[in-house]
Parts: sequence; C-alpha cells; structure tokens
Amino acid sequence: MPGFEVIGAEEQAEINDVFARGGVLFRQGFDALRNNCYKVRDFEAAFASYMGVPHALAVTSGTAALRVALAILDLQPDDEVVTQSFTFVATAEAIIESRAVPVCCEVDGTLNMDPVDLERRITPRTRAVIAVHMLGTPARLREISAICERRNIVLIEDAAWGCGGSLDGRALGTWGRMGTFSFDFAKTMTTGEGGMITFHDRADYERAAAWHDHGHENNPAVPRWEDTRSGSGFNYRMTELQGAVGLAQLRKLNDVVRHQQKNRDAIWRAISNLPGIVARDVPAGSVETADALVFETPSASVAREIRSRLVTAGLATKILPEAVTWHFAGTWSHMPELVARHGDLSNAFPATAARLARCVSLPVTVNMDEAVPARVRAAISSVLV
Ligand SMILES: Cc1ncc(COP(=O)(O)O)c(C=O)c1O
Repeated sequence: MPGFEVIGAEEQAEINDVFARGGVLFRQGFDALRNNCYKVRDFEAAFASYMGVPHALAVTSGTAALRVALAILDLQPDDEVVTQSFTFVATAEAIIESRAVPVCCEVDGTLNMDPVDLERRITPRTRAVIAVHMLGTPARLREISAICERRNIVLIEDAAWGCGGSLDGRALGTWGRMGTFSFDFAKTMTTGEGGMITFHDRADYERAAAWHDHGHENNPAVPRWEDTRSGSGFNYRMTELQGAVGLAQLRKLNDVVRHQQKNRDAIWRAISNLPGIVARDVPAGSVETADALVFETPSASVAREIRSRLVTAGLATKILPEAVTWHFAGTWSHMPELVARHGDLSNAFPATAARLARCVSLPVTVNMDEAVPARVRAAISSVLV
C-alpha cells in the first residue's frame, strides 16, 4: 500500500530545507528570495528521469492530472473518451469536467480494460482512451496501445496505482501519449495530495504546464504579471512543500514496491492452495506495484463472507468488495452524463459486475507483521472448504 508508512526523517529534511533557504512555498518566481530552492521543479525532473521520459508536470492531485491531460486535447462536447468500468470515480469525473462524453468498457481477468470490449465501444467520435492500472496491475497495454494507434486515438494511462510498476521493461505511465499519477495518502508514494503527468512530447508538456497555471507561459523575457498566454487554463499548481515530500518519497519508491511484492507473495503463498481461489490475470512481462492482492472466489456471497471473517479477525479488505460503489461505473447513477451514454447502468457492464462481485482484494503493507499471512489464511479458510 502506501508511501505514508515510510514517511520520516528524509521528508522532514526536505521540508526543513525549504524553510532554511527562504521559505518560498510557491513553485514559480520569487527568485531573489529562494536561494535557488525549487522543490517542485526538482521533483518533476527526478520523476521524469525515474520514468525515462523527457518531461513531467507536477499538479495538485491525480484527478487534476487527468483533467490537465485531457485539457490539452481540445475535446469538443460530443467527443467521446473511453475508460474502464472498474476504476476510481475520478477517471469519469475528469472526462465529464472536460466536457467530453464518458464511455466505459468491461474489464477482463486482469480487472483492467478488456481490449476486445474497448474495440466494440469505439465510435467515430472517440478521441481518447484512458487505460487504468487498477490496484497496481498493468493493463493489457500491448493490445490497447495497438488499437489506439490503428484507430488514431490518443492513449492516456491513469497510473494512479501504477507508480513504480512496468510492462516489458517500460514504466507504467509511459506507454501512452501521457501518463497520470496520484500521490494521495493511500498511494505507493505520497505527497499528502498531489499528482504528476508524464509526457513524451515537448509541445504537449508546454501546453499542459500553461493550462495548469491559468495559461501562464512563464516567459522568462517578462515578469510574471506581464506573462504571455495563448489560451486560458486553471490552477492546479503543486506547492513547494508537496514537491519537497515528493523528492524524498521518490527516492524510497523502489524499496516500497519491493517490500510490497515480498509481502504480497507471502500472503499469496499462505492462501493460494485454498479451494476455489483464482489469481487475478497478470499480463506477461508485468512488474506489479503489489498495492493489493486480488483474487476471485466462487461467488459473491463467498467474497462477502471472506470480508466479514477478515474484519472479525481484525484484518481488512481493500476496495473489493466493500468500496465497489466508488470504483464501479455500474453504480454511478449520480452521473447523468454516464447514464445518458449507457442507459440503465446496472445492466451496462454485466461481465464486470459479475466478476467484481466475486473478487476480494487484500491490502498489502510495507511494514507487514510476519503473522499476517497465517492470520489471513486462518480467517478465510473455513469459508472456502
Ligand atoms: C484510478 C484512479 N485514478 C485517479 C485517482 C485520483 O487521484 P487523487 O486522489 O490524487 O485525486 C485515483 C485515486 O484513488 C484512482 O484510484
């Protein structure tokens, strides 16, 4: 699970450095006061380098990252953006905020976008696809990116859960034209709130950087109050305090992922031979962030019973089954835009609804007590005999 477990002296030192060097908390300007201290800028450079892309832009949240990424596509009101029906509600919200039509598709055994159903949902109005790496397992990016390329559709990866993972040696978030990341408090690395967008193309980066800052082009030839602009925008700027924490957290990311993988594997070894448990599909060539251990059970009632036994034993599940209403489009009848596109949502994604109902997701922590795998097995084994 989370970077918050490893927050400590390194993050504190980065914060202290901001104050020691003048206490400028704004990412732009104030050059005479800040003793060359630019934490957000340094965080962006370090993140881009970690990901192996030329540009990264820090923003206020993962939701903001999606919104800014969509903003540079010049979407028109009837344009459609397809994402998967199992994702956090933020992915659909960002599409709606961009005045595009949200379209969702079924997930497959990876619990991510089913490429076959994606292809079915594409229309002449489809401008972008947002593939999500839910709970740290890569989506089928080879197939999805091939479809997007063939149909001339922009691919964006929502890598909110994918930070530190990869497929075929390429970091998640770098397969698409843009990748978006969340650093909220539950993510593999955290800045409390925060997000990042990765880019391959300098022009995309420059448009996004201006849009996230009211259109400011940060033209070095003029002072900020006389700055040039080519379009409007909004304010999604990250603060220097978030940037400072992000720098320290990024240095810990590989360790966090390694510990999560080890602990996830230990839990899986303890329960994998229980009858009826089926592992989540993982595309070949994946490095998962191992934020969670997700498996299918024989039925929805077994999944619910497993959760109840875990809670009784002082353990927990994570998202599945308890938080499905925040993560499954089939329950989002509060979104008229989605209802207008799909009609009765409760019948719109039957394969995903059935699959999610059978699934259980266990939280994986960095600092896991050694007794946890055996406790999980003891709590759930009697449900599965
Ligand atoms: C798949 C996905 N996308 C986007 C977000 C939004 O990120 P944030 O909470 O930083 O706005 C989340 C948050 O959990 C998420 O899970």
